[in-house]
Amino acid sequence: MRRVSAPPDRVAVIGAGASALIFDLVDHGYQSIDAVDISAAALGQLRTLLGERAGVVRFVHSDVRTVEFDAPVDVWHDRATFHFLTDPADQMAYAARAAAAVRAGGHLVIAVFSLTGPEQCSGLPVVRYSADELAAVFDADFTLVEASEYDHVTPWGDAQSFVQVVLRRSATTTPNNGGLEPMALAEDHEQGTRKHHDDPLTR
Ligand SMILES: C[S@@+](CC[C@H](N)C(=O)[O-])C[C@H]1O[C@@H](n2cnc3c(N)ncnc32)[C@H](O)[C@@H]1O
Repeated sequence: MRRVSAPPDRVAVIGAGASALIFDLVDHGYQSIDAVDISAAALGQLRTLLGERAGVVRFVHSDVRTVEFDAPVDVWHDRATFHFLTDPADQMAYAARAAAAVRAGGHLVIAVFSLTGPEQCSGLPVVRYSADELAAVFDADFTLVEASEYDHVTPWGDAQSFVQVVLRRSATTTPNNGGLEPMALAEDHEQGTRKHHDDPLTR
């Protein structure tokens, strides 16, 4: 996150839950955050936990497969939501929503269980990916910038293997941005797979 965005950015956190990322973004001065979740209860819990800090967060109660935003998004972040979509039609619907939402030059940061990760999440089946497989889902509109793998340690002490890709929205089509030029916010990075720590803002 830190490498492709800065506090002026509008960040959409998909499947926000009570993600530590939202709290980190707020604490780092982000002023425009969309917390998207299909669960009203999860959003309500997030709002309560944020308390007075909730003012910079829009709580978007929506299925990601149909989500819409009122202005272009600079960064779309998803940890552990996309992998629940086991039907290719749902994966394509997700990719279409991301392409419609993210401005040209903006970024998609997606982390899902890797090929050695768990086969289920919260008791539900998931699709596990390699970095290339994950990037391929979005390759009509996004270019792979960086891929990495990391272990996330759950509150109950289990290590879950994630793969994360950072993708840049191509400039060929620019839905929702009124033809604006990409903002020069992101640095270029070499493609490649790295290991990193499980810090929300580096995810
Ligand atoms: C495993 S949790 C991950 C929460 C958070 N991203 C994190 O990393 O801690 C998945 C979240 O995605 C939400 N979710 C699942 N399917 C969704 C969908 N189709 N659209 C939007 N949110 C969804 C769930 O309600 C839940 O809050």
